Amino acid sequence: MDEFQRVCLLDELRPGQGRMVVVGGSPVCLFRIGDDVFALDDRCPHAGASLARGYLEDGVVRCRIHHWGFRIHDGVYVDEDNPRCNARPIPVRVIDGQVAVAMPKPSPDSGT
Ligand code: FES
Repeated sequence: MDEFQRVCLLDELRPGQGRMVVVGGSPVCLFRIGDDVFALDDRCPHAGASLARGYLEDGVVRCRIHHWGFRIHDGVYVDEDNPRCNARPIPVRVIDGQVAVAMPKPSPDSGT
């Protein structure tokens, strides 16, 4: 089971604005929509730019470098049907105003 780590307070996240946190040595971007928080691997699948520094439009975060778009709730690349370009979604939850994320453990056959 993934272990959740508290990373910030919900009130510290400005709606629509990304924030990068580091969990288990990996960068994670957080976006808040209303009282919901979504998390993706912060490294853009295209060339590694920070998605937290991107911009949110209609539930899609767009990388500020080349503007690739990813659905914030599941990381799916929206500009074409190409699953290899998806961003990695990260489990996140909000409990009592505290935001916690869990980095999925690598699978035994992933080679990492
Ligand atoms: S680095 Fe993100 S779209 Fe190119």
